[in-house]
Amino acid sequence: MDYTVAPLSAHTGAEIHGVDLARPVGDADRARLYRAFVERSVLVFREQQLSPHQLLSAVRLFGEVFPQHNSRFALPDCPLVHYISNQDFYPDGKRYIPGEGYHTDHSNALCPPKATVLHAVRLPDSGGDTQYVNMHLAYDGLPEAIRHRISGLRASHVYQSRHSARKMMALGEPDRNSIPDAVIHPIVRTHPESGRKAIYINPIRVEGIVGMADEDALALLAELLDHSTQPQYQYRHKWERGDLVIWDNRCLLHQANGDYDMNQVRYLHRVMLQGDVPV
Ligand code: SIN
Repeated sequence: MDYTVAPLSAHTGAEIHGVDLARPVGDADRARLYRAFVERSVLVFREQQLSPHQLLSAVRLFGEVFPQHNSRFALPDCPLVHYISNQDFYPDGKRYIPGEGYHTDHSNALCPPKATVLHAVRLPDSGGDTQYVNMHLAYDGLPEAIRHRISGLRASHVYQSRHSARKMMALGEPDRNSIPDAVIHPIVRTHPESGRKAIYINPIRVEGIVGMADEDALALLAELLDHSTQPQYQYRHKWERGDLVIWDNRCLLHQANGDYDMNQVRYLHRVMLQGDVPV
């Protein structure tokens, strides 16, 4: 297959031109794409037109599908694919903007998803970008004393942290029973494929740090978040119609921007891929 892989920033993101994910991809091409995914953490496939079922089979190039936690957002005829939309509302009538505030997906799972895939279906005329921060670089950029301080620390992750400014949409009964109440993950994890270390925190899900008073834990987590979200660690994705974006949750935080005209629809399909226990 004749396709190009072009960097989108100095450190994160690559744009793939010349691959039609609705068609079979051979082993050598798949291996090259997978290497690019591990090296660049975000891959952007332009001009894709995939039905939900085509999307599911395309993402299997990169791994096994992970069942997402809140089935309220599942597509009825293809439930492993969920939707992301600005047209839902909390029970109190406030608009729900999925993905606002930096986070990594479903870190409250024992084996959180290694990757998330979004495929744009409808986009606002402008805005609604997704921002990523590279947590490998953020880790590398920490002062040695802080790296030493966080080495060996572990955090407790839950569906909805009581400290989070963003509220998740509540889970229904069957979903609630199918996920653990809390899981413990290291604050520094090692990428299983590149061997690089990354800060692994999640303001939406982290309830506390094991063995640390809340006040100290929150101060440390805020310091790590402030450090990690500095512009030099960011890649900001401006969506184009037909984009399919896959990113590596093991070494990125991301956030959606609700900065556009809410009379316009922002609607994407989302799939996640199975990951390992973070170590
Ligand atoms: C998400 O956090 O999964 C959604 C991100 C986005 O809508 O850009």
